[in-house]
Amino acid sequence: MDTSKFIIREIQPGDKESLQEGLAQMTNESRRLRFFYSRKNFTEKELKFLTEVDQHNHIAFVCISNENSPAGSIRCVRNFDRPEFAELAVTIVDKYQGQGLGYRLLDTLADAAIKENITHLYGDFHTSNTNMLKLLEKYCLRHNITMDSLSLNHTSDGFLYFEMPLR
Ligand SMILES: CC(C)(COP(=O)(O)OP(=O)(O)OC[C@H]1O[C@@H](n2cnc3c(N)ncnc32)[C@H](O)[C@@H]1OP(=O)(O)O)[C@@H](O)C(=O)NCCC(=O)NCCS
Repeated sequence: MDTSKFIIREIQPGDKESLQEGLAQMTNESRRLRFFYSRKNFTEKELKFLTEVDQHNHIAFVCISNENSPAGSIRCVRNFDRPEFAELAVTIVDKYQGQGLGYRLLDTLADAAIKENITHLYGDFHTSNTNMLKLLEKYCLRHNITMDSLSLNHTSDGFLYFEMPLR
């Protein structure tokens, strides 16, 4: 697939329907990996939170195919106790996974986060989520970040917690 045919842009309030549509197109397994349960839709309140962002404390991008179909989204939300850290969440709709879009989104988000003085992205994902691990490793490799600084730790409930420096 030619990933240049996908547009990546900042999320907008008008993306609510598209986010709902993207969720509907995901498999149960991908929903479970992203949300830790197989959620079927977003509430109005959640859609407002997800799309009406300030791009400073909450930075978010969407990826849209050239047929105007939602392909994925990525966001990070600043931690107010540690303002240089932001929690990462990313989703690529299943039919578009494994073709470089997650990496393009992560690279775009990281550049925007750095401009907002965010130095680290953090989060957790299930130990079975090898695609997420590979995505983070790819970012580190391409940006000369050592795997040690990715700071991966197993949690007691079967998750991997990471803190990734952006440069
Ligand atoms: C995790 C996720 C965001 C990765 O996005 P993606 O677009 O599939 O990842 P990319 O295509 O950019 O791949 C990045 C690297 O991961 C690996 N990878 C990711 N998906 C892969 C797949 N389906 N098959 C093989 N390798 C894969 C590759 O090593 C790849 O590097 P390469 O391009 O140099 O080979 C995506 O799979 C997803 O949305 N999963 C469900 C939701 C989720 O788990 N979110 C993360 C928790 S917040």
